[in-house]
Amino acid sequence: MRALTPADTVVIVGAGTMGTGVAQVAAAAGHRTLIFDTRPGAARKSIEDIRTGLERRLSRGKITENALEELLSRLQSVERIEGLGDARLVFEAIVEDLGVKQSLFKALESLCGDDTLLTTNTSSLSITAIASALSRPANLVGMHFFNPAPAMKLVEVISGVETSREAAEAVYGTALAWKKNPVHARSTPGFIVNRVARPFYAEALRLLEEGAAEAPTLDAVIRDCGGFRMGPFELMDLIGNDVNYAVTCSVFSAFHMDPRFLPSLIQKELVDGGLLGRKSGRGFYDYDPSAEKTLPSSAGPGTPPTAIRAEGGLEIAEALVPLWEAAGIQVTRAAGEEAAFILGSAKIALTDGRTATRRATDSGNPDTLLFDLALDYRQASRIALSPAVNVSDDALQAAIGLFQAAGKAVSVIADTPGMSVMRTVCMLANEGADAVLHRVCDAPAVDIAMQWGVNYPLGPLAWADRIGPERVLKVLENLQHAYGLDRYRPSLLLRRIVDSGQSFQEHSG
Ligand code: NAI
Repeated sequence: MRALTPADTVVIVGAGTMGTGVAQVAAAAGHRTLIFDTRPGAARKSIEDIRTGLERRLSRGKITENALEELLSRLQSVERIEGLGDARLVFEAIVEDLGVKQSLFKALESLCGDDTLLTTNTSSLSITAIASALSRPANLVGMHFFNPAPAMKLVEVISGVETSREAAEAVYGTALAWKKNPVHARSTPGFIVNRVARPFYAEALRLLEEGAAEAPTLDAVIRDCGGFRMGPFELMDLIGNDVNYAVTCSVFSAFHMDPRFLPSLIQKELVDGGLLGRKSGRGFYDYDPSAEKTLPSSAGPGTPPTAIRAEGGLEIAEALVPLWEAAGIQVTRAAGEEAAFILGSAKIALTDGRTATRRATDSGNPDTLLFDLALDYRQASRIALSPAVNVSDDALQAAIGLFQAAGKAVSVIADTPGMSVMRTVCMLANEGADAVLHRVCDAPAVDIAMQWGVNYPLGPLAWADRIGPERVLKVLENLQHAYGLDRYRPSLLLRRIVDSGQSFQEHSG
């Protein structure tokens, strides 16, 4: 089996959102592309939709008239499935139902040649299960595109138990030729992205449930401090709470109720109430044009210090020092077991998964405050701070003033273990590590998948390497201890990486 060349015909079955997008991708790559749908007129409508989208691109100068016409000339709607026989690759994007997909592939098998690649866009069904109905299961490969397919670069190439290496490689090569960034993955619940991304939503929902802060503040911290393009609540509202909740439930049940994937009651309540997000007009946010825009909470002006003491090896927090020096704050250095900034009685440290209150008790200093992880402390426009419960107002105002002097908005959130960005990143890395441990994919694939499938600013394993796998392990152990929950158990692979002194980048399987 070989990757497709532009001379090969591609068949798209299912002319909905995904089939239409992938038909455009295949035609743009030079293939004669046939589209079939059981709904009368749907395939023709799909081509019309592609034309409308391309004309919009033409008006913005993103495509030439010639390229538009050529692309459209390669698309053809087909009214009967019998007309699909000479395809080298069939791409299925029909309803997400095992029985319906199995009978479609059975019919296709009898129409297509032995070397036709059969691909499915399923996001939640097992490739092995779909293939079990086929006489040539080796030819079936998952080809999981992301919406909108013409714009999103990631394609997860999924192998079931019986998928042949040649078929998977041929699909991988085809995705590359279609200018996508493919990754190989084994058929397992959620594949890579829908599995590794779960904590992005789950930890935010948990923080909301515990009253750490309101959704706009938690979103702003993840965006402005964590560097993610969207916050989890605005993203859930965009995806649809029903869709996002269903994916979580499907992964949770497929993993035999592993508490790591436990669905959230807050989200269920919204789904039950029809508060699905943008599409229903209300979810975590109210989209009524007359609704008052909810803003993140930002602290008022604090008391900026003139001098601070930086204790211990600051590591990633070192990037803050030049910002303070540039603001005229004198920073003196001192040895110390723990990295911290000292101003007056206040001790300010990066969260390590313990609460500020726990650390205040451990150190005997009630004026303990923690700050959250940032993707890049120089660039971050916001910092989250968590004060220990008995912190004095002077210490709180000094800490707020300190970060404001560095040009940051400050969101004070309740004292929760691991705060927001740190716990999210550590949990994403842990899930990525577990996917690698269980041979779903290799370590580079985790990062490629999360950067190109859901636009993370950095792959979770590369992020773990950046902040240190040891720190990630410590945060998770502290979270597990604080909550007493198995949900935060560190992956064996993370422990192995730490014990061996390796990085994820060096890990080869
Ligand atoms: P859709 O509902 O927009 O389109 C499905 C199309 O399939 C409809 O036009 C329907 O008439 C047609 N269809 C149903 N049964 C058929 C059959 N037996 N033969 C031929 N056509 C048939 O669905 P969408 O969103 O495009 O999803 C399609 C597949 O892609 C599903 O498996 C879904 O899980 C998966 N997927 C969807 C993503 C999304 O964001 N919408 C992202 C990634 C995967």
